[in-house]
Amino acid sequence: MCGIVGYVGNREASPLLIEGLSKLEYRGYDSAGVAILNDGKIKIEKCKGRLKNLENKLEEFPIEGGVGIGHTRWATHGEPSDVNSHPHFNKDKSIAVVHNGIIENYIYLKEWLGSLGYEFLTETDTEVVAHLVDHFYNGDIVKAVADAVEKIEGSYALGVVSKNEPEKLVAIRKDSPLIVGLGEDENFIASDIPAILSQTRKVYLLEDKELVVLTKEGVTITTLEGMPVTKEVFNVTWDAEAAEKGGYEHFMIKEIHEQPKAIKDTMTSRIMADSDEIKLDDINLTKEDLKNIDKIFIVACGTAYHAGMVGKYVIEKLARIPVEVDIASEFRYRNPILNERTLMIVVSQSGETADTMAALREAKKQGSRVIAVTNVVGSSAAREADDILYTWAGPEIAVASTKAYTTQLIAMYIIGLYLARLNDKMSVEEYRVIRDEMLALPAKVETLLENKETLQRFADANKNNDDIFYLGRGLDNAVALEGALKLKEISYIHAEAYAAGELKHGPIALIDDGIPVIALATQEELFDKMVSNIREVVTRGAKVLSIACEGSTAIETVSDAVEYIPRAIDLLTPVLSVIPLQLLSYYVSIARGCDVDKPRNLAKSVTVE
Ligand code: M6R
Repeated sequence: MCGIVGYVGNREASPLLIEGLSKLEYRGYDSAGVAILNDGKIKIEKCKGRLKNLENKLEEFPIEGGVGIGHTRWATHGEPSDVNSHPHFNKDKSIAVVHNGIIENYIYLKEWLGSLGYEFLTETDTEVVAHLVDHFYNGDIVKAVADAVEKIEGSYALGVVSKNEPEKLVAIRKDSPLIVGLGEDENFIASDIPAILSQTRKVYLLEDKELVVLTKEGVTITTLEGMPVTKEVFNVTWDAEAAEKGGYEHFMIKEIHEQPKAIKDTMTSRIMADSDEIKLDDINLTKEDLKNIDKIFIVACGTAYHAGMVGKYVIEKLARIPVEVDIASEFRYRNPILNERTLMIVVSQSGETADTMAALREAKKQGSRVIAVTNVVGSSAAREADDILYTWAGPEIAVASTKAYTTQLIAMYIIGLYLARLNDKMSVEEYRVIRDEMLALPAKVETLLENKETLQRFADANKNNDDIFYLGRGLDNAVALEGALKLKEISYIHAEAYAAGELKHGPIALIDDGIPVIALATQEELFDKMVSNIREVVTRGAKVLSIACEGSTAIETVSDAVEYIPRAIDLLTPVLSVIPLQLLSYYVSIARGCDVDKPRNLAKSVTVE
């Protein structure tokens, strides 16, 4: 996620911006830049790579001035590069803008501004904001920003400076975080509290569409219509480390809570309530191309592999194309049958996993087309694949993958729908039903995140067990595997997932008095069979926590505890049922005193075979 810092005051802005940006490094970024008002001009310095590169540049070519904005960029639109880095200028370099978020209607705005003569130098969505503000500028930068945001759809936190009003910094947010820091004869903006914590502990927490004007003398906040807004000052009492996690104790729990937004962002501008079109900018597969494809391989590791298992089910069901899912480390060595009629989908949060990359290269070598589903713009997978579908989860810092997984699921649904429509296997009416259900998912995840008591109780009661089993059928089986992986990697408890119907072919011998079993029963068609499987383990002494859809109360007769998820069509329940499993793993891990974010023996990105 991008990071924003802004400063207005009597001190030099440059070192304060760099220091602030360094405190936002935890958010992940691929480039950085600053814009500082200097001697009647705005000067920008920006570059790809670490903040240190920018710092070195500023040491070589210092920019003096007491008003400035800074930015760390996590690429979404356009690869990480010097030119795509923020800040961005308007055409005569009198206005500079930094932005965090996604401008959903940027293509429309770009075309419209282009027709008015504006030229675009970057691939970013943000550049439209600089030109929009320019378009509306008529001697009042505050009004120009207010008019510009009225045209923008999507999420944004913006910092804007103008050389014509050099004493002001204008800021506004919608669905992206932004706070104001209050100092003595100086004021700040930032994406997050840690950026300014060494300068002040007094902040305003901004609400959506509150328009802020900062000068060194003070801060005014109004509505877009100019009505004054009165706010209480929030006194930060957390230490710097806690502040980085936005008040959460660990990155993992923060990222679990970021899922409604990450899911929404991943659907943004691809599937829309008012359109029957699925828009995938970086996938150029045509109807003709698809006619020539008779098999799909989904290849990935770990959690991404589990998302691929859901992908197999979804694509086969919707698009009626045979899909095989492979663990990337196994794929190459089993002499897979690949050719130009094969489509490979690699799934990788980092886009750098060595085994996944090796599978991708093998497929390309043998003439197959490759789609990369990845969270990192410009990653190796994105560069080497023919087509890309980015998950817009934002950087994931905890080793245990949570928001990357749910956004990978969304990517699987989007690809499934896209192929089904291209393949003429799905009517518009059928498409609309699934699309509308998908658009309702963020709100359902939000509700789930409010119910933690049952999970906390179960975690506490079972934290000292040596083994925990997970059972499910169909899509629930894929989610059970992910639940078990989550638990074992962060709590070091032996956790095993089985297809519930397979139980009596061996694993049931492990069930004994008091063994905890997590049973997923969200698939309506398989519900009764699942209840029978649960009964089989209960009879042998298991303590069962079931995950079922609201209203499936029959499950209570065979469960010690039930965590209900909001109802959704069977196909989409994995996005919901995994949330309690993530939370359960987290609570078990902290109850056992484990290092949740950095579990032993594991690395976030596995770039060796
Ligand atoms: O970056 P990738 O998605 O390719 O990573 C794949 C796995 O290494 C990753 O999902 C791993 O299993 C996580 N630690 C799971 O939480």
